[in-house]
Formats: sequence, C-alpha cells, structure tokens
Amino acid sequence: MELRDDSLLLRRWSADDAPVVYAACQDPEIRRWLPTLPRPYTYEDARAFVTDARGLGAHQFAIVEAERVVGSIGLHLASNETGHVGYWCAAEARGRGITTSALRRLCRHALDDLGLARLALTADVDNLASQRVAEKVGFRREGVLRSHLRHPDGHRRDSALFSLLPGELPATAEHHATNRSHWDALAAVHGQDDYYDSRALVAGQSSLLEEEERALAAAVGDVTDLNVLHVQCHIGFDTVTFARRGARVTGVDFSETSLAKARALAEQCGVAVEWVVADVTELPEGLHGRFDLAWATIGVLCWIADLGAWMRSVAGTLVRGGQLVLIDGHPLAKMVTSTSPVVLSGPYAGGAPLRFEDSVSYTNAASPPGSSVEFAYSLGEIVTAATDAGLVVSELAEHLDVSFDHRSGHVDREPDGRYRLRLCGEVVPTLFTLRAVRPRDHAGRGRWAA
Ligand SMILES: C[S@@+](CC[C@H](N)C(=O)[O-])C[C@H]1O[C@@H](n2cnc3c(N)ncnc32)[C@H](O)[C@@H]1O
Repeated sequence: MELRDDSLLLRRWSADDAPVVYAACQDPEIRRWLPTLPRPYTYEDARAFVTDARGLGAHQFAIVEAERVVGSIGLHLASNETGHVGYWCAAEARGRGITTSALRRLCRHALDDLGLARLALTADVDNLASQRVAEKVGFRREGVLRSHLRHPDGHRRDSALFSLLPGELPATAEHHATNRSHWDALAAVHGQDDYYDSRALVAGQSSLLEEEERALAAAVGDVTDLNVLHVQCHIGFDTVTFARRGARVTGVDFSETSLAKARALAEQCGVAVEWVVADVTELPEGLHGRFDLAWATIGVLCWIADLGAWMRSVAGTLVRGGQLVLIDGHPLAKMVTSTSPVVLSGPYAGGAPLRFEDSVSYTNAASPPGSSVEFAYSLGEIVTAATDAGLVVSELAEHLDVSFDHRSGHVDREPDGRYRLRLCGEVVPTLFTLRAVRPRDHAGRGRWAA
C-alpha cells in the first residue's frame, strides 16, 4: 500500500530500510522524545521494526522523499473507530515541512479512506516542534496526560494530547496541490510572450516595472552586495535582474517547473542564483534571518490560504533592519469583472477559497485547462498581518494610475499614457505597495531566527 502527496511517498517498510532506521534512531533528539525506543537502539531493533516483527500493524509507513527514507509515520488502530498517530523525522530532513505533509496525507487516508471517527496524537509537553506539526495539520489540543511517558531511567513525563475529527482536516493541502499543478502548467507555457519576454531578458533588459523600481529605490536603493530573497519567483525574471545588479539572490517558489525554467534562464544570462523549492508559508530554516530584502510582487498573495503564515514566514527570513517590499493587485480592483456595466464578483476580504477554471494564462498564453484556488485579502488584513508578524510598516501606497495594463480588459490606457481603472467614471486603485521593516531592536513577537 502506498500513499502519495505532492513530493512525498508513504510506503510500507521493507527489510532493506533497516540501515536507515538504525542510523536515524541513534539521534539523541528522536530518543529524547520517544522514550519507548529501545536503548541502546541496535541494528536488530531496526530490523524488527521494518519487518513488523513487533506487530505494529498494516499502517506503518516509511516517509520517502526523492527516493530517500527521511522518516517514519504510523497509525495504530484502536477500538471504536479511533486511531493513534505517531511519527519521527530524520535529523537531516527536519525544518522543511516533511512531517507536516506526511501527517496530512496519513490523516486524509485515516479519515476519508478508513472512515475513522477520531485520531489522537500525543507529544511530550516540551516537544513544541511536534505539537506545531499537529496544529498545522488541524489537530486540536485537548489537554495534558499527566505522567504519561516512562523513560528508560524510570522518570516520568507529561504528554500533550491532540485530536482530529472528520471535517477538521483543512482543505489547505488540497488547494495547495491544485495550485501547484496550476503553476507547473503555467510555467511550462510562460516565457515566450510579451509578458515574460525571455529573449529581451537574456539580451540584458531589466524586468522591473516602474512601480517596482520606485519601491526598490525607496527601500534599499542599490542592491549591490545585498542578500535578496525573491519570493514566489516564478520563472525568475526579477531574480535574474537582481543578480545582474550585483545582489546575492535566492529565488523561492513551490513550482519545480517554474524553477527549472528559472534556472535555465539564469544560466543563459550568466548569473548565479540559489534556487529553493518550498512553500512560501513554511520557508526552510536555511533561509531564516538571512536577507536584507524580501521581494514579493504582482500576483503573490492571492495564492495564499494563510496570510498570517505567509507574513511570519517571509518576515522570518529578514535580518534585523531587513525590508519587505510587497507590490500586489489591489483587493478592490481584483473584485471587478466588468467596468461597463460595473460588475463586482468575489469577496473583498476574508481569505475564503475561490475556485476558478481556466485554460488561458494571464499572459494570454494557452495553457491546459485546469483549476486553481485563490484567496482575497483586504488591505487592512494585509497590514495587520505584517504588524502581527512584528514588521513595522514604512509605506502603504494605493496606485491610482500605473505604467502597465495590470488587469487586461479592465484597465484603460489614457491620453497621458497611464493606465487607470474607472468605475462609474471614478478612478479606483489597481495596485498597492507595502514596504515594511524588521525592526533592529525587535524583542520577538514574530518568528525571528537571528
Ligand atoms: C504570478 S507568479 C509571481 C510573479 C512573479 N512576481 C514574477 O516575477 O514573475 C506567482 C508565483 O507564486 C508561486 N506560488 C503560489 N503559491 C505558492 C506557495 N504557497 N509557495 C511558493 N510559491 C507559490 C507560483 O508557483 C508562481 O510562480
């Protein structure tokens, strides 16, 4: 039996996995939190585990990433259609959301396929990483099981008890998978059009729009020698532009197809860039506290199910004094589906999932028909998320006229050459720019790593 997720495979253990399990279980962290592991943990213990000699049952899985076993996850069936979940992740694979993805997948199987009515999970009260994984997947904390764990030296510890019921598994993972496929499909057809003109980029043209140049100048001016994170970098146009200007740039995106194209473009342009495949709401530890500038522009937040997580994650990559530049479609303009007559559709705020079916990209390139899921956030929600993440807002601009046709069909080029969106003759904003700083003397409300 196998369970698959975007990039993970959960499969039955095989005898060949014994060496990996043996090596992983020498890790003091795993032994600290799993007191029932035999001590010392011998090769024979690993062999007994992977061959199920201890009778743990049919729902024990190796977590496999890129053909490497990186962890273990299992479901133990109990009475009354309930189950108990447990997991560990090998030291070298931690901090990348692997256990969270594996747990989500296993819970979907347990609740949807096996029809269980309740899943329970326990973690040592001080094992905050494990508790965070449970909460991210949707588990609710029920309380503390006192003196629940017995360590080999006889001392006892409390556990936190969590549970998940049918209907409580957030649809986030499914939306995420839908959008990843959507972006893989778009990335495959982007780069040969006027919107993403690869030939011009390779010939040396900058990809930054006038509004972006202005925000960049206000934030940092020259990027030479700065560490820049290009958030949701897609096929890497701005990433290449920053690298050409002398920045050390990291491009991050969850679409591997986007990054494959971005990597090829950067090579053609002769610039060095670090590429990271990751969900922007769970950026890996290796990116924390590193960047002078986090750059996120045009078509960013509408893909994000959890705005607070996005802000905390991106803010967490900044050095003290580092800046976030976020330029995106204005939430009011995003509601407009027709200007004559004026038709608004979709919410202004709230972040509820909105499903779309498309076969043409925003670049007008034809793409295979497919679904996508978007989320709408108000400016108030966006600014509040930034301040909740511990950032200090230095600019919030609403652009009434812009240099380009941001919303094909609704934004008209007027005689002065500027593009405006008019509703009943009145101009409304089409874009906003948010600049925010990680304070130098921040005491730590957000998720700061350095
Ligand atoms: C409209 S594009 C951004 C355009 C970009 N500013 C550029 O320079 O081309 C949106 C990008 O967000 C990425 N994306 C969407 N959701 C994401 C997520 N949860 N984590 C990481 N990347 C994501 C998509 O793969 C896509 O490449």
